[in-house]
Amino acid sequence: MKIGFIGTGGISEAMIRGMVGHAGHRDPILISRRSAKRSARLAEDFQNVTVLDHNQELVDQSDWVVLAILPGQAEGVIRELKFRPSHTVISLVAGLELESLSEQLAPAQEICRLIPLPPIEYGVGPIPLFPCLEKVAEFLGHLGTVIPVDDESCFTVFSASSALMANFFESTAWQARWMEEQGVPPDEAARYASSFTAGLTALTTRSDAEQLQALSRECLTVGGLNEHVLNESLQAEWFDRIRLPLDQVLARLRPDV
Ligand SMILES: NC(=O)c1ccc[n+]([C@@H]2O[C@H](COP(=O)([O-])OP(=O)(O)OC[C@H]3O[C@@H](n4cnc5c(N)ncnc54)[C@H](OP(=O)(O)O)[C@@H]3O)[C@@H](O)[C@H]2O)c1
Repeated sequence: MKIGFIGTGGISEAMIRGMVGHAGHRDPILISRRSAKRSARLAEDFQNVTVLDHNQELVDQSDWVVLAILPGQAEGVIRELKFRPSHTVISLVAGLELESLSEQLAPAQEICRLIPLPPIEYGVGPIPLFPCLEKVAEFLGHLGTVIPVDDESCFTVFSASSALMANFFESTAWQARWMEEQGVPPDEAARYASSFTAGLTALTTRSDAEQLQALSRECLTVGGLNEHVLNESLQAEWFDRIRLPLDQVLARLRPDV
């Protein structure tokens, strides 16, 4: 099976590194000669990656096509391409809905959307998939936690929720900076903050919906340090402040609602 990527940006690179470097994918992978340094680096690192000059050439030679261009680029790029009924097309493009994709990609029949995140490079992280094409779900199973979604409106909520990624990294970096400000050497602060994040994250991945909601309470000792910080944060409406920007992101992704 040949898989081709239209768009060789950050998320294509993470996905290809996950496929080849982590999951041991050996079938041919075709990529556009875009983001020139990145496409050259991928072809240099992996024997089964080939760079092609033209998008149509890539589509013609691929069984599966991954659309990994930016939302503002997608329509113009797709308009220039001709697909076959037998193509499986996987769109990563945020906000481009299935009905519109089906019209633009006709006569391709098998079309789905997914939201990979950068840790796909290491075979971890959530991968919401809509609709759940079984063969695509099986393929992605080697690259992270596939979350089959059967309602596109919910899928858009997953997409909006991924906008918390930068906040997550900033929170870990902020913790390290704060420790440095108190005199801890930068390397020690960074090692502590990153291991803190990774260690606590391991607890969340083993939790069901109910346990997840209980984790913060389980850290609290009456009169203790965690209780102090959580109570002050709740009083300052720390978490509610994220609601507005997230609602705004969701509205951007659902302009008609
Ligand atoms: N980054 C994430 O974590 C993430 C997660 C989930 C979904 N997504 C979605 O994935 C898509 C790509 O995101 P990204 O972060 O990888 O963006 P990016 O780094 O900006 O990559 C976009 C890629 O598209 C290429 N491109 C532009 N016009 C093209 C054309 N006519 N033909 C072929 N390639 C073309 C660009 O090449 P040049 O550099 O040469 O212009 C670049 O390689 C977006 O729709 C985004 O919503 C991203």
